[in-house]
Amino acid sequence: MPLVTYVDHDGTRHEVEVEVGDNVMRGAVNNGVEGIVGECSGGLACATCHCYVAADWADVAGTPTSDDERDMLESAAAEVRPTSRLSCQIEVTAELDGLVVELPERQY
Ligand code: FES
Repeated sequence: MPLVTYVDHDGTRHEVEVEVGDNVMRGAVNNGVEGIVGECSGGLACATCHCYVAADWADVAGTPTSDDERDMLESAAAEVRPTSRLSCQIEVTAELDGLVVELPERQY
């Protein structure tokens, strides 16, 4: 399974294997990574799954994939950056093995 690394705002790293076809939000929630909340369970209705795709992965996964994601990101509690994503919208594929996402200071 692809390995996804979640980096808390304080620098703590969580390495999690996430099944192909699942998404980065669910990988966090199912494995106790508290920096991602995922309140709406991936329904594009909350922005509590906000993350920053690490610079090395920006070309692959650092751009929102829909206008709905872009719009919802505007509701994020923390600063929105060029590589901000809603992690529920990042589908895990074999190509994302090694993905690193950084978590914002807060989701509310
Ligand atoms: S979990 Fe609500 S928008 Fe991602």
